[in-house]
Amino acid sequence: MIWKEKYRIGVELIDRQHRELFERVNGFIKVVRSGQSMEEKLEEIEKTFSFMGEYVVVHFESEEAVQRKYEFPEYERHKKIHDDFRNDVKKFKSKFENDKYNEELVQEFSGRLLTWLINHVTGEDQKISEYVKRGEK
Ligand SMILES: [Fe+2]
Repeated sequence: MIWKEKYRIGVELIDRQHRELFERVNGFIKVVRSGQSMEEKLEEIEKTFSFMGEYVVVHFESEEAVQRKYEFPEYERHKKIHDDFRNDVKKFKSKFENDKYNEELVQEFSGRLLTWLINHVTGEDQKISEYVKRGEK
């Protein structure tokens, strides 16, 4: 999955965060899918989780602030999508803490993460750009 300029929504901070998320998730998938054993991968996987856990929260907050600033009409719906995802990440994290060598679990989550991120950034988030443009006229 490659970051494309057309995914920009027109707010530098958000676009930078999205690009960073793409890069991190890409790196994560590479590690998860490599032929290394779970023991070898574990450190990298844990690093990604703690990064994602924190960064997703910061990013969602920034994005929600932008939506409020530009009076994005689907704010409540969008926030609910963020909240659900935040909970998903949290749930997964605690499952992982209890079962660190469960490769299947990590594989499943990394796939879900990738799909969610692509769909969200290229779908839901794109709707915001229209209101950013309007607000800047
Ligand atoms: Fe979003």
